[in-house]
Amino acid sequence: MQSQTIISEGICQIIKSGPCSIVIFGASGDLTKKKLIPALFSLYNNGSVSDKFFLVGSARSKMLDEEFQKTVLEILSKDKQFGASPKINDFVKRCYYHSGDYGDLAAYSSLKEKMDLLHDQYSTEGNTIYNLAIPATLYPTVVKMLGESGLLIRSQNDKPFHRVIIEKPFGRDYETAVELNNFLSEYASDKQIYRIDHYLGKDTVQNIFVFRYGNSIFEPVWNRNCIDHVQITVAEDIGIGSRAGYYDQAGQIRDMLQNHLMQLLGCVTMEPPVNMHEENIRDERKKLYNSITPFNISDLSESFILGQYDTGSINGEQVKSYRNEENVPHDSYTETFFATKIYIDNWRWQGVPFYLRCGKRLKNKLSKISIVFKKTPTSIFKALGVSDRLSNTISFNIYPEQGVSIKFQAKLPEHKMCIGTLNMDFNYKREFGSELTSDYNSLILDCLMGDQSLFWRKDNVELSWKLLTPVLKKIEGYSPDEKRELIQQYVSGSWGPKAADKFIEKDGRKWINE
Ligand code: BG6
Repeated sequence: MQSQTIISEGICQIIKSGPCSIVIFGASGDLTKKKLIPALFSLYNNGSVSDKFFLVGSARSKMLDEEFQKTVLEILSKDKQFGASPKINDFVKRCYYHSGDYGDLAAYSSLKEKMDLLHDQYSTEGNTIYNLAIPATLYPTVVKMLGESGLLIRSQNDKPFHRVIIEKPFGRDYETAVELNNFLSEYASDKQIYRIDHYLGKDTVQNIFVFRYGNSIFEPVWNRNCIDHVQITVAEDIGIGSRAGYYDQAGQIRDMLQNHLMQLLGCVTMEPPVNMHEENIRDERKKLYNSITPFNISDLSESFILGQYDTGSINGEQVKSYRNEENVPHDSYTETFFATKIYIDNWRWQGVPFYLRCGKRLKNKLSKISIVFKKTPTSIFKALGVSDRLSNTISFNIYPEQGVSIKFQAKLPEHKMCIGTLNMDFNYKREFGSELTSDYNSLILDCLMGDQSLFWRKDNVELSWKLLTPVLKKIEGYSPDEKRELIQQYVSGSWGPKAADKFIEKDGRKWINE
């Protein structure tokens, strides 16, 4: 069943940034090429970024402005979504390059000289965003140098604004996250720090807010009285590629649970904020994270199933085991899969289990949140052979199809009485005929506008780490034999270790795999 016609015009906030510049540290890296440059151009192309704008790429390697412009041109010309936009050349001319060692103060002084000239040339009023697309170990160095060179000025009034976008991982555990927050606060106020989580930039994730708070029919049932359980699955069919250096030290819990899945959980479960003001939203998230029941680390198997991918076949192709990936130690016990059960100790969610599952080299790339409602009290359809009690599911589909679907029972045509489960399906692409905006577009634009609602706040990122750090420390303290038992091998192309199925089945439930 398809969703139906749009019956009202969208009420949209038209956003256009004021004068601004952006400096990307890590200009030669993958993130810059794949996400940041296309996102910035897309914003420039659709008029969301002011004409008073320029970009400086910065990295260690030496390069002239013209060479960097050539690289930017290549990135944009290859990108099908931009076609042959006439604005590409104009954008490319606004791109500059600065090389220097990240720890060398003199490099920042010369960057400042360059920036001062460009601010005058483009009338950008000194407004600058520093995007740290560099390894996390360099964050303190770069922020310190920016502060000491006068490029990052601590301010509360935003005139001119100096903002810093920080990628994940934000710390490795609770202690290092607190340490990093304290360090940053020496150079900038929290209003200037944008801790990015690209999942919050996804339209379908933001749609959870509109779905919950823009409709009156769902909120009355959005609680323990009507909901049986919630499942969040973020499955990927890819392996770790060439990221072993980072990933083998991180693992799936740090890479995905501490940030993306905790944000998804927050969107589904937080209380309605008073309004859309950033601090009100982030205050509600804080209450939620504070209400999560700590994991019982004396018996981790009660709340966690961990796995690591073995060889197998994905889309007909034989793939390597995790331990045979480039630069992964052959005896690595890093987890590439987790399934966990979370409880939230508040009035709304008391007793409702939240099953979160996430892994690499699984059967399909699938990201979805399923809200599974309680079964009908009895089945009056036993005579028709429907002996089981029936239930409904609302799914927020993030990948591959983006949208919302609702499963419900209906009478099928022709037979006098014949019941089937149908899917009422709203699909963004089918409805609006285009791909959704990229996650980075919307987050960079928010940063340009000074809106932090979709960025992690200091206290929230610490709370998320606080919940997971005891688990991580417990696992890290295990002997190799204990780790072998805990971190089970699973066949690539499957849905993870068999134990993950038993984990949910022992509660009388099943994973939703499509
Ligand atoms: C990143 C993780 O943050 O998110 C990657 O570091 C993961 O390991 C990626 O593959 C998944 O993002 P998406 O948007 O493709 O679901």
